[in-house]
Amino acid sequence: MSAPHFDFTAKNVMVFGGTSGINLGIAKGFAAAGARLGVASRSQDKVNAAVAQLGNDHGSALGFSLDVRDAEAVQKAVHDFVTERGKIDVLVSGAAGNFLAPAAGLSPNGFKSVIDIDLLGTFNVMRAAYESLRKPGASVINISAPQAWIAMPFQVHACAAKAGIDQVTRTLAMEWGPEGVRVNSIAPGPIGGTEGMERLAPTEEAAEHSKKAVPLGRWGEIEEIANMAMFLSSDMAGYVSGAVIPVDGASSCGRSMGG
Ligand code: HXC
Ligand code: NAP
Repeated sequence: MSAPHFDFTAKNVMVFGGTSGINLGIAKGFAAAGARLGVASRSQDKVNAAVAQLGNDHGSALGFSLDVRDAEAVQKAVHDFVTERGKIDVLVSGAAGNFLAPAAGLSPNGFKSVIDIDLLGTFNVMRAAYESLRKPGASVINISAPQAWIAMPFQVHACAAKAGIDQVTRTLAMEWGPEGVRVNSIAPGPIGGTEGMERLAPTEEAAEHSKKAVPLGRWGEIEEIANMAMFLSSDMAGYVSGAVIPVDGASSCGRSMGG
């Protein structure tokens, strides 16, 4: 991560699903800007590896191995983080599962699994963090996708989950706004070097096709999502709440001539 443009010194940031890909990049951005991090995901190995990368002069990162579908485990992690660090200033909900599957061949449990990880998981982490978050200046970033409003074949589970997340964002921006908590979604377009694009564009041909469909002509970079997460959590975005912000090279603006 290059020199930080933001200052989150003395801020505590908890990133659910923060052990790989985009969410780890977000955690690294905040750590480089001086924040103290907490990260959580299922794999203890991934948690350990992330924690090892996220400490800074202001403190070591804390790691939690849990499944966001387990509300009690999420509550315990939040409790333990707050006990150690005192408060949560920024909450990032980014845990997700996805795969390409035609709806007609998708089992109810397959659909449910993605809804539970993405949507119920986001509710679980927001609900657990609420008591610590409820103060002026706090920020919640939910990780959505443009597929929340632009349908994509073989993605009925993920499209529905991300659309639900955006309504959670808007609803809780309204409920928690009076306490000074801002709640926003970031909707990344295709981002290079991620598990998500390995799954959505598994061949070189599919990757090239996907890039041509982006008006800016390329996939995004993890750091570009981290920058938006930090901007939205900074005072510079003090009047931004309830927003769903695409960071997608204009790919959700309309139908591309290139795709
Ligand atoms: C059809 C599938 C499937 C597939 C799993 N299932 N993979 N169905 N096609 N490729 C079905 C299983 O058969 C099962 O249903 C149900 O889903 C649960 O599967 P499990 O393996 O038991 O689930 P679990 O261990 O909880 O794993 C969750 C997972 C897995 C989502 C299936 O892939 C995962 O852990 N993913 C996390 C990492 C990830 O996906 N990262 C990319 C995020 S990118 P049955 O009926 O058999 O019991 C992203 C981009 C969004 O989100 C952009 C677009 C919106
Ligand atoms: P990723 O590397 O697979 O990140 C997913 C993270 O969530 C991992 O840390 C994973 O770790 C964790 N996770 C998954 N299921 C979990 C569960 N049940 N409980 C707790 N943690 C769980 O994928 P990515 O591509 O970077 O995607 C990150 C976010 O960006 C997701 O919200 C995704 O929907 C969104 N997004 C990605 C793209 C893209 O181009 N990649 C585009 C649009 C939106 P464990 O395996 O250890 O649990």
